[in-house]
Amino acid sequence: MKNLEGGILKRVNIGICGLGTVGSGTFNVLKRNVDEINARANSQIEITHIGARRENPLCDTAGIKVSRDIFDVANDPDVDILVELIGGTSVALDLISQALRNGKHVVTANKALIAEHGNTLFELAREHKATLSFEAAVAGGIPIISALREGLAANKVEWLAGIINGTGNFILTEMRDKGREFADVLAQAQELGYAEADPTFDVEGIDAAHKLVILAAIAFGAPLQFDKVFTEGISNVLPEDLTYAQDLGYQIKHLGIARRRDSGGIELRVHPTLVPSAQLIANVDGVMNAVLVKGDAVGSTLYYGPGAGSEATASAVIADIVRVSRSIGVASDNHIPHLGSIDSKLQEPYVLPITEVETAYYLRMSVLDRPGVLSTVTQILSDAGISIEALVQKEPNEGEPHVPVILLTSRAIEKRLVGAIEEIEKLDTISDKIVRIRVEHLN
Ligand SMILES: NC(=O)c1ccc[n+]([C@@H]2O[C@H](COP(=O)([O-])OP(=O)(O)OC[C@H]3O[C@@H](n4cnc5c(N)ncnc54)[C@H](OP(=O)(O)O)[C@@H]3O)[C@@H](O)[C@H]2O)c1
Repeated sequence: MKNLEGGILKRVNIGICGLGTVGSGTFNVLKRNVDEINARANSQIEITHIGARRENPLCDTAGIKVSRDIFDVANDPDVDILVELIGGTSVALDLISQALRNGKHVVTANKALIAEHGNTLFELAREHKATLSFEAAVAGGIPIISALREGLAANKVEWLAGIINGTGNFILTEMRDKGREFADVLAQAQELGYAEADPTFDVEGIDAAHKLVILAAIAFGAPLQFDKVFTEGISNVLPEDLTYAQDLGYQIKHLGIARRRDSGGIELRVHPTLVPSAQLIANVDGVMNAVLVKGDAVGSTLYYGPGAGSEATASAVIADIVRVSRSIGVASDNHIPHLGSIDSKLQEPYVLPITEVETAYYLRMSVLDRPGVLSTVTQILSDAGISIEALVQKEPNEGEPHVPVILLTSRAIEKRLVGAIEEIEKLDTISDKIVRIRVEHLN
């Protein structure tokens, strides 16, 4: 195969560290589609070194150097691109740092590492004239990083909202469709290999927060600010809320939302959210991911696809390998900025505390079935400047004096709503805590 200029293809040597789910997918897709990948990379890509503690029967490594110590790959002078697929934030941090210090380009799928240590690693990469690419770190196979960084480069991004954790989406979908309890579906997700053995990152929103912060940094030209994300998981969502929301024309989705505020600052938040059923993103079910981006020029665009899986994630890893291979040998000034904007333009925006964020709300309360009670509730909301868009009173259960009442409110600043809820909860006609879920129309 001749290169773009009619000469011999330049050779790019790849070292893969970690031969697990994504590592084996990357290895096998690179081998299977080698001709197409080389043609697109304008390079001859060769896997020359594997760092893995053990063999993976899915990968035929005959003829390839294999080291049990992954740092041998980072120190191998023949490796041009190190692909980090071990995960975690300790050894992976040392490994990537070592590779960058040795002047190697690095490709990773590690969202936790990029979200928490990306700013430092990008600095190290620049110092050593290397690049650190992370397309696979967000939404698996969906090329959302390059869509934001390149495809939407003309736009001021107003906001983005994404279903960016497939495990959480699978759990909510099963709970809604089958009326199953959270813990029951979580156990199944673990059996199916969707959820981690320790599922906290998935169900408490930490994994989604890692991804959101990466998307927001690129969308808003800001450094990564993981410690500023407001994070609420799905473990308190009940099957009845999914049903009531659906009856009102909404779906409950676990969304990561980043929004630029006209008054200055940005919102960074992950939480269960009611979304109108008519929105395409509300119909993204099971383990699938989707990201909705609103740009000032293009309007709304939606990116949908598998957010995880061996070869789906490998697809994004290899896209980075192709991109980096193309740039090897090209003047470093032509490299793509890690977060899409040149460093001197990255500005750390003020991130609004959740108490200052304005959304509409779904409220479910247990109300004594007696005349006049609801008018007291609506008066308290009205005094806080909050109006009611919809109100549904359910039938009481046999012998039960309280009835479930569901309200959809107008948009309100969170601290005003919280104040009103505290007052309502003090009424002796209300039993239990009020369930509160934010509502976004995503227009
Ligand atoms: N799975 C997905 O669908 C997906 C999607 C997007 C992003 N990611 C990201 O991709 C990365 C890899 O995930 P994965 O699902 O492929 O994980 P995985 O299946 O657990 O594979 C990780 C591999 O790395 C190896 N490893 C871990 N620490 C090591 C060390 N110190 N030295 C040598 N080998 C080591 C493990 O070896 P042992 O078997 O010996 O422990 C294992 O083979 C993570 O950052 C993850 O967040 C995964």
